[in-house]
Amino acid sequence: NPIQAPDLSKCSPAEIPEGGTRPNCCPPFNSTIIDFVPPTYGPLRVRPAAHLVDDKYLKKYEKAMQLMRALPADDPRNFMQQATIHCAHCDGALPQIGEPTADPLQVHHSWIFFPWHRLYLYFHERILGKLIGDDSFAIPFWNWDTPDGMVMPAFYNNKSSALYNKNRNPKHQPPVTIDLDGKQNSDIPKYELIEDNLITMYRQMISNGKTAKLFMGEPYRAGDAASPGAGSLENVPHDTVHDWIGNPANNNSEDMGALYSSARDPIFYAHHANVDRLWSVWKTLGGKRRDFKDNDWLDASFLFYDENAQLVKVKVRDCLDSEKLGYKYQDVKNLWLKKRP
Ligand code: C2O
Repeated sequence: NPIQAPDLSKCSPAEIPEGGTRPNCCPPFNSTIIDFVPPTYGPLRVRPAAHLVDDKYLKKYEKAMQLMRALPADDPRNFMQQATIHCAHCDGALPQIGEPTADPLQVHHSWIFFPWHRLYLYFHERILGKLIGDDSFAIPFWNWDTPDGMVMPAFYNNKSSALYNKNRNPKHQPPVTIDLDGKQNSDIPKYELIEDNLITMYRQMISNGKTAKLFMGEPYRAGDAASPGAGSLENVPHDTVHDWIGNPANNNSEDMGALYSSARDPIFYAHHANVDRLWSVWKTLGGKRRDFKDNDWLDASFLFYDENAQLVKVKVRDCLDSEKLGYKYQDVKNLWLKKRP
């Protein structure tokens, strides 16, 4: 049977790692839940590559984030509330409905990783757009798989911006090149690191991602133990990019380096937009690279607050085509396609 949308009234404080802060990451409770209806109006939102955005776009994004941070603390659309939704779904805060003895819900390390995060970003983006009255607003993606995108996008590093976060590794500020597989030593020349990153991408997308299970992760059904196994892209570079941004001087490499705190960093959403884009790219690569057909995956359901602070129940089958959700990605070259090791 499919994983069921949680009952928010059963939420309890999360089991966060020692030295962590704000263990209570339960979303506000509301008993009115509507079923998801895909958007049928409005322009297609085009998510831009973060390293290519212009000032006009950036002003809009910063403004939207500022407004999101300024919402009342108990508004589910408030930025901190957005971050805590992620925490609630990864640290044992939400029991599985009807499965009292099963592990609590965990949206990582299994086949629901891609769809849950896609929907999480979908609502986050629509809330931002609503706050600035722009229904074409789209969040940026951190294009860390292309050479020009292999640094932290500079605008996240502006201290006076709502996109800034102090909990990041000070040694990984621009213009330091990211190490996508987390294995290179720090004195490797830049061109070699870039080459190595492209090869890592080829390996995770193509060689190690030949089937849905290998790419997206192991089946996770109602009552199953949490974390049956992550897919290739979730392990590398998804996890490695998290670790690269988090500050190792903090107790648990907060913010990005720990699941419970990672979504407190605005860069989280750009990182995940790229992960989401790569899911769409992966499906075009041929062979057996297709979504699961298993109904336990397609009918798995989740709960999110939408741009009107309305609780919505969504199924995996509703999110398989990003354009049906009203967004796509700026076209960029996937240079790693030619990097067969
Ligand atoms: Cu929910 Cu990048 O993790």
